[in-house]
Amino acid sequence: MLKLRSQYLGLALITVVAGGLGCASKSRQVSGSQVAGAANIDVKAFGQAPDGKQVRLYSLRNANGLTADIMTYGAIVVSLRTPDRKGQMADIVLGYDNLQEYIKISPYFGAIVGRYGNRIAKGKFTLDGAEYTLATNNNANHLHGGIKGFDKVVWDDKPVQRPDAVGVRLSYLSKDGEEGYPGNLKATVTYLLTNKNELRIEYEATTDKATPVNLTHHGYFNLTGGQRDILGHVLALNADRFTPVDEGLIPTGELKAVKDTPMDFTKATAIGARIANEHQQLKFGGGYDHNWVLNKGGKEMTVAARVSEPTTGRIMEIRTVEPGIQFYSGNFLDGTITGKGGRVYPHRWGFCLETQHYPDSPNKPNFPSTILRPGEKYETTTIYRFSAK
Ligand code: GLA
Repeated sequence: MLKLRSQYLGLALITVVAGGLGCASKSRQVSGSQVAGAANIDVKAFGQAPDGKQVRLYSLRNANGLTADIMTYGAIVVSLRTPDRKGQMADIVLGYDNLQEYIKISPYFGAIVGRYGNRIAKGKFTLDGAEYTLATNNNANHLHGGIKGFDKVVWDDKPVQRPDAVGVRLSYLSKDGEEGYPGNLKATVTYLLTNKNELRIEYEATTDKATPVNLTHHGYFNLTGGQRDILGHVLALNADRFTPVDEGLIPTGELKAVKDTPMDFTKATAIGARIANEHQQLKFGGGYDHNWVLNKGGKEMTVAARVSEPTTGRIMEIRTVEPGIQFYSGNFLDGTITGKGGRVYPHRWGFCLETQHYPDSPNKPNFPSTILRPGEKYETTTIYRFSAK
């Protein structure tokens, strides 16, 4: 594998067609006919990170022509192209055209966030009797892993080929003490673009000291392909409850029924239908920026969310084994970011659906635990499935 990797480093552009992945496929010999003809992986150099590390961009293409570009900086999904009801392909995620812009400023566009997705109050928690202090980067709180979270590091990479999917396996060693967290955490995220038109994300981690872990994907979706804001998208969440927050967006610890509130997405509803409601939770979030408690969440792979976009017919269905999902309606987008193709991203131009454990779990004993201990394995999967009607 190392040999293959050093070849990648030396060349500007390498196209690796599925069925011919050399070392990567040695242990899994898959013939070209098992992988439908068009599925392939391209790898190319994508610039240099501030620490001098080379960044690579993986372009995945499945048998049906869906594509995903994923870079090793931040494990970021740079683009994701899916068809509308007429078969027209468009890029349905927000981001930038080049690495330098991601480095300059990014509201976590398409990244893997970690070691802990969302907030830990005051950046403090107590574990096995010891108090830990994390980097604070969101007023007095710790958000999305701190100042230099998993979204800002270069991950090690390896192409992945499965009978029905192409992908990339990204690994990162988060050192003991990084951003204040205890333990050396070995994290691996495998992105797979399957021939069932899914972006499948498999997360794994192990540690040598007990630590909180809560990894998630922070893609900003716009199923119109960037033609208008996301308020007309119709969302259903498989959740009867959510975790209300205080003004600082820290959960109060309650699990509250969504019934008769604008937080109720048990029936498919346009994102914009009630977003301007005077409900206190919407005021705190400046719109939706909350965690929902998934029915059956944390127990089995379950449909967490379904989004449909009436003008293009695109549908995205999310399945996960996580207990929660953060729905963020792009409230901090304010037209100051110019993204891909010179497109300005106005208010609510993208939305995020981040499968996760609940925010601030290390300080909320009644929430499902996020603590990983030595000898245990953190393993979780989320699947985004794309179709059109
Ligand atoms: C999460 C947070 C939001 C915001 C966005 C990105 O969804 O809850 O408050 O930080 O990420 O800006």
